[in-house]
Amino acid sequence: ADTFRIGLAGLGTVGVGVIKILQTHADMIAARAGRKIEVLAISARDQGRDRGVDLSAYEWTENPERMAGDPRLDAVVEVMGGSDGPALSLVETALKARKPVVTANKALIATHGVRLAGLSDQTGTPLKFEAAVAGGIPVIKALRESFAGNRLNAVYGILNGTCNYILTEMRRTGRNFLDVLEEAQAKGYAEADPTFDIDGIDAAHKLSILTALGFGVKPDFPAMKIAGIRHVSAGDIDHAAELGYRIKLLGVARRLDDGKIVQSVEPCLVPEGHPLAAVDDVFNAVFVDGDFMGKEMLVGRGAGEGPTASAVVADLIDLVRGDRGPSFGVPVDDLVTATWAGPADI
Ligand code: NDP
Ligand code: HSE
Repeated sequence: ADTFRIGLAGLGTVGVGVIKILQTHADMIAARAGRKIEVLAISARDQGRDRGVDLSAYEWTENPERMAGDPRLDAVVEVMGGSDGPALSLVETALKARKPVVTANKALIATHGVRLAGLSDQTGTPLKFEAAVAGGIPVIKALRESFAGNRLNAVYGILNGTCNYILTEMRRTGRNFLDVLEEAQAKGYAEADPTFDIDGIDAAHKLSILTALGFGVKPDFPAMKIAGIRHVSAGDIDHAAELGYRIKLLGVARRLDDGKIVQSVEPCLVPEGHPLAAVDDVFNAVFVDGDFMGKEMLVGRGAGEGPTASAVVADLIDLVRGDRGPSFGVPVDDLVTATWAGPADI
């Protein structure tokens, strides 16, 4: 079979990870996908930067949006980040040109996901974003496919690796918040603007995507109650521990009996015996409660090069195999507008 050629926009933590996987496992991936997957074109801001991988075989593209109109490419992978600007232009232009898209960009999907998935529906062009939520945990696949026979009552968990890493290190070593944040940035866990992590915005982007998939509603990030971990002190963590709790930044989406949906991101006290209390470091965990499946917890590394790139490559393999299902599990025209619960409802 002929080769499936991709354009890769973004050569940072995730983009370099994608190249490493495709270079390391070329034959194995070809066998699994049924076609060889090859990077043809690449793009980033700085062409001259040494990224620790051999890029000599790939064509440099100055403007990533041009990939959308390149007839040689079978798909584009957007791993630049940002809810607007070049990421939005590339993804939108690609879908209009019927070029399949894989992205890891939760800010983009949380902000423009309905419109982009609408384009995907209209043109029959896949838009896939497994890596956008919880890094290496296949939670989008689980909600879209594995749990699709259930009516869900709740989806909640630890959705930001940077915050979980900071809270874990502060508890274990008493280290200072900013020191640990710098370390998380150096490990490639944090967003380009780390206030998105520590102020809960990144977790909220992810939760809005999970809520949409889990409950069949339009993602509504602006409606969400959000608090981050900026004001959690080492003293708070110690006091919580004395009382038998861990402090975790949780994203919670729950359906109430009257149909309203609770959706919030905030630091929570988790009892030490609860499985979420043991999820430390960069790990994320997503609890799903469905009417027939019962409760399940998915755990894995929520950020970083390998786990995130692994999710991007899985989406690519699905594309090559012919996955054409709607991005949010149902066509966007069937997503309903949620009624969000307020404090009086809870
Ligand atoms: P990085 O900041 O490490 O990399 C971003 C890349 O995009 C860089 O190569 C940068 O170029 C390029 N880029 C940025 N702006 C432009 C632009 N205007 N034009 C062309 N290229 C541009 O980000 P990550 O790899 O960490 O993240 C990428 C995406 O994946 C984001 O949406 C992020 O939220 C998401 N994500 C990241 C995870 C992680 O653990 N890091 C996990 C899950 C999702 P240059 O290098 O030249 O500056
Ligand atoms: N900055 C994000 C995190 C990356 O720390 O969880 C993974 O989405």
